Amino acid sequence: MQIELSEEQQLLRDTVRRFAAEVVAPRAREIDASGEFPLDFFHRAGELGLAGVYVPEEYGGAGMDEVAYCVAIEEISRVCASSGVILSVNNSLVCDPLLAYGNEEQKRELLAPLASGRKLGCFALTEAEAGSDAAALRTRARRDGDRYILDGGKVFITNGTHADLALVFATVDPERKHRGITAFVVPTDAPGFSRGHHEYKLGVQASGTTQLFFEGTPVPAAWRLGEEGDGFKIAMAALDGGRVGIAAQAVGIAQGALEAALAYAKERHQFGRPISEFQAIQFYLADMAMEIDAARLLAFKAAWAKSQRKRYSLEAAQAKLFASEMAQRVTNKALQIHGGYGYTRDYAVERFFRDARITEIYEGTSEIQKLVISDWILRGA
Ligand code: CAA
Repeated sequence: MQIELSEEQQLLRDTVRRFAAEVVAPRAREIDASGEFPLDFFHRAGELGLAGVYVPEEYGGAGMDEVAYCVAIEEISRVCASSGVILSVNNSLVCDPLLAYGNEEQKRELLAPLASGRKLGCFALTEAEAGSDAAALRTRARRDGDRYILDGGKVFITNGTHADLALVFATVDPERKHRGITAFVVPTDAPGFSRGHHEYKLGVQASGTTQLFFEGTPVPAAWRLGEEGDGFKIAMAALDGGRVGIAAQAVGIAQGALEAALAYAKERHQFGRPISEFQAIQFYLADMAMEIDAARLLAFKAAWAKSQRKRYSLEAAQAKLFASEMAQRVTNKALQIHGGYGYTRDYAVERFFRDARITEIYEGTSEIQKLVISDWILRGA
């Protein structure tokens, strides 16, 4: 594994950083306050190749690698965590399983518009009574000739308010537990499909979180991903990739908070000098920089492990767990450095602090990551 970014990855970082500064940052505060979903941002990101960073160009993506994907998610999240997760979900939870499990027709018809940013995807696994215990989901899929009929509901679906296509997990037989779960690509203009209200949350306000409902929703059998019963493994494998994306998102949030704290510490004077001259503040900054670097390396290592085409659940869980908890500590210190001003809505640091919190919850809580890690090390894998 190479520690430095390649020339191509550096070029991508510089391009995405410019795009983030010019297009994403100016609206970050406004969409956090209003909760408006930045659909125009998604389409423009798609034009840059960011909707399907490691999807091959023949299927509409940028054809780059998994580390490049981390770099892109970090750069966007450094200015707007909502925009970061919108891209992360489309890339790793929707495009990636289509790339890994889709047949040629599905890749051309379904993957290409998603990877090029013409269509937005969402990942519909979680239900009201099936969160961490994803295998307990109850949405039903009944075979009816050359189609399936879906009935049930999903909650907390990122991108759900605006998605064109949903990757939906439903069971063909609840008695078969996780072995009955099957994956379908469902267009959101299908009959019997509807959305709930937009969730008002602590952070990542603009990520379009909502409920989805299916009432007798027909889905062509040709849009089933994999075989009946493959769905749980498809979801878990997709979440391994998703966790790498969330680790990169957490690194980006923390990096944005560190940069805000550095600037503030140099300009804020107390006791006759900039507060950056006080060792208490310097030590905070040192801890923050070191922790961000450690998390970034874990994210890159997990991305590299993914590129080796072997199971990388351990690396993904470690990166996600460490990076999300790191982001919590770093944004907390950044807010402390800002003092009373940090607690107001006038400074971006309070948004970074609120946004960081969800990285410890979605795509598997910290406790679930610890289960995955301990399972691997106890089995000696
Ligand atoms: N890749 C491939 N296969 C996997 C896998 C992986 N990463 N993880 C598990 N499997 C397979 C196992 O090998 C096993 O296979 P067999 O049937 O052949 O034995 C099967 O799946 C069942 O595995 P487990 O017995 O380990 O499953 P479990 O029911 O005990 O669940 C769990 C394990 C780790 C708790 C899992 O349920 C989990 O990760 N839960 C968290 C769910 C989650 O992350 N939800 C996030 C929602 S999505 C979201 O937040 C997106 C968003 O909008 C931002």
